[in-house]
Amino acid sequence: RTLDDVPSLAGKTALVRVDFNVPMEDGKVTDDTRLRVALPTIQRLRDAGAKVALLAHFDRPKGKVVPSMSLKPVVDDLERLLGAPVRFADDCVGDEARAALADLDAGGVILLENVRFHAGEETNDPAFAQQLADLGDIYVNDAFSAAHRAHASTEGLARLLPAYAGESMRRELDALDAALGNPQKPVLGIVGGSKVSTKLDLLKNLVGKLDRLAIGGGMANTFLHAQGVDIGGSLCEKDLAETALEIIEEARRQGCELLLPVDVVVAKEIKPGAEAGVRALDRIAADDKILDAGPETVARLKRAMDLSKTLIWNGPLGVFEIPPFDKATVEAARHAADLTKAGKLIAVAGGGDTVSALNHAEVIEDMTFVSTAGGAFLEWMEGKPLPGVEALRA
Ligand code: 3PG
Repeated sequence: RTLDDVPSLAGKTALVRVDFNVPMEDGKVTDDTRLRVALPTIQRLRDAGAKVALLAHFDRPKGKVVPSMSLKPVVDDLERLLGAPVRFADDCVGDEARAALADLDAGGVILLENVRFHAGEETNDPAFAQQLADLGDIYVNDAFSAAHRAHASTEGLARLLPAYAGESMRRELDALDAALGNPQKPVLGIVGGSKVSTKLDLLKNLVGKLDRLAIGGGMANTFLHAQGVDIGGSLCEKDLAETALEIIEEARRQGCELLLPVDVVVAKEIKPGAEAGVRALDRIAADDKILDAGPETVARLKRAMDLSKTLIWNGPLGVFEIPPFDKATVEAARHAADLTKAGKLIAVAGGGDTVSALNHAEVIEDMTFVSTAGGAFLEWMEGKPLPGVEALRA
C-alpha cells in the first residue's frame, strides 16, 4: 500500500519513518542525500493537510540517551531543504512528544528524537511500538535503507497502525524490482569490493538470477587464486578458495557467464600516485599487489554491458579512493552512464562504497537509480526478505 491508498490525510497525524542516519562531523551534516530523499513524502503529506511526525535513528546508542547521537543537528538542514519550519521534540514517545504533536498545525512537521535512545526500538518491544503508535493515526515507512532491521519503528509499528510505503520507499522497490525481480534481460551484475566473505550469500543468489556476473575488486583475487593464478602479495582470503570454486561451478551449472579479470593493474605499495603497471595473469611478481582491473578486463566488461539490457552494480573494481587505481571503476561507470543516457541500459546501483565510487566517477545523476541503502541493499541482493518491507505487505 502506498500513499495513493490512504483514504484521507487531512487532519491526520502521520508517523513517518525516515532514515536520517546521515554522515555528520562536528555536529554538521556532511551529506544531506538521505534528507533530500525524504522530501517528496513529507511534502505530499503536508500538502494533504496531515501533521507529519518524523521518526528516525542516528548511529547506535544501544538503548541509552547519548547526547552526541541526538538528531537535533539535522533540523536546520531539513528546514532549509523543505523551505518550512521543522520542530523538534526531545523524546520520541511520552508526554513531551504527545504535547508537541497536539500543538502542531495541520501541515506542520516535527522531528522526534532518536528512536534508538529507547532499548525497545531494537528489541522491537511491542510495548514501545504501542507507545509510538499512540502518537499517530497512520504509519508511513519511507526508510528502505533501514528496512533490513526488524525494529519497533521499522517493523512493529506497521502492525499497529494502517501502514503505507512512502514515495522514496516506493521508488526504491520499483527500481529494485526492475533490476532483479522482473528485469529486462539479459541482466549483467557487477560485484566488487575487497572481501568475498562479506558477499558470499549475495554471489550465490546472483548466479541463479543473472545472465552474466562480473567479479572485481579485491574479492576477484580470491577467485584467481582458487583457479591457480599466482597473485603475488595481493589481498586474498585463501580459506575461501574452495567456496570460490563452488561459486564458479554453480554459475556454470546455472548458465551464468562469470567475468573474472583477465589482466590486472599492480603496484608495490598502496599510495596515491604509486608506480602502477598492467600485468597479464601469468606475470604477477611475488611483491606485486593487485589494485585495479586491467584494460582488457575493462574492455570485456564494456562489451558485456553493450550486450545487456539491465545492469545491477555493487562494489568498486579497484582501490578507487587512491588514483590511479580508480581507472577501471571510473571507465566502467562512465560506459554504463553513456548507455543509460542513450536509453540502452537500465542501470541500478547501491550499497556502501558503490555510491562514493559512482560519485567519484561523476555519474550518479546518469544512472537509472542509485539506492541510498547500504546493508539493506546487500540483504536485498542476497534475496533475503526485508522485515520493514514485509510488514508493509502483511
Ligand atoms: C544504514 O545507515 O545503513 C541504516 O541507517 C541502518 O543503520 P544500522 O546499520 O545502524 O542499523
